[in-house]
Amino acid sequence: MSNSRKLFLGLSVVSALCVGPAIAGDGHPAGYFGYGRAPTDAEIAGWSIAVRPDGQGLPPGKGSVAEGAEIYSDQCAACHGTFGEGEGRYPKLAGGQLTGDRPEPTVGSYWPFATTLFDYINRAMPFPAPHQLTADQVYAMVAYILNLNNIVDNNFVADRDSVPKVKMPHRDAFLWRDPRPDTAAKECMTNCVDPGSIRIESTAEGKSLTPRTTGPLDEMKPE
Ligand code: HEC
Repeated sequence: MSNSRKLFLGLSVVSALCVGPAIAGDGHPAGYFGYGRAPTDAEIAGWSIAVRPDGQGLPPGKGSVAEGAEIYSDQCAACHGTFGEGEGRYPKLAGGQLTGDRPEPTVGSYWPFATTLFDYINRAMPFPAPHQLTADQVYAMVAYILNLNNIVDNNFVADRDSVPKVKMPHRDAFLWRDPRPDTAAKECMTNCVDPGSIRIESTAEGKSLTPRTTGPLDEMKPE
């Protein structure tokens, strides 16, 4: 079949599709801007790499602590230290405490979800050349860094089933309910509560969620 014949056939298929109510005034389907094309599934998969706290989005693959140790010493230790202690001003990946004048939030002391390790390393590390590690290698890094933090034992194998089950040490210290009192309020248009009877209490008060400010506001007294 000649090329011009193919083109003619193609055009008649397009015009057949263009009949119906979803046609904009200029004869194109609604939402058609005259440029670009719908991305393919493979293109979307290349961008859609988010891993959620519950593990949704984790790819197939697996990696052990021992495999992680090897990759880590090659590709990560120069910045993050052999045992995650951090070189120079590069971030520590292990240890750290949250109390005292200089709290050190690290993966071990602060992060609530182990799954974030996969997302972050896969997305951003190694810092000079991200997106080079295979899923197996990223799983091995997750296993190794969790092991550095004494969160999993030496035999741990990270995969899409095991990582979401790891409970991070600081997990329960996060508030999973919004503590701002007004965010739980229900809107009301008729027969509403007498505003004078409402007393606003903050669940944040007394729990040192908000640091005290010093200054003129502290001196203000209610009328
Ligand atoms: C050239 C130095 C360098 C190398 C090599 C490197 N990183 Fe990083 N890493 C960084 C820097 C800088 C940050 C902080 C980035 C930021 O906050 O934007 C970081 C952050 C991280 C964090 C998050 C730490 C936190 O608590 O926020 C993890 C996890 C991590 N890197 C893992 C790795 C792994 C795994 C490798 C090896 C595959 C690696 N990094 C290689 C420099 C490096």
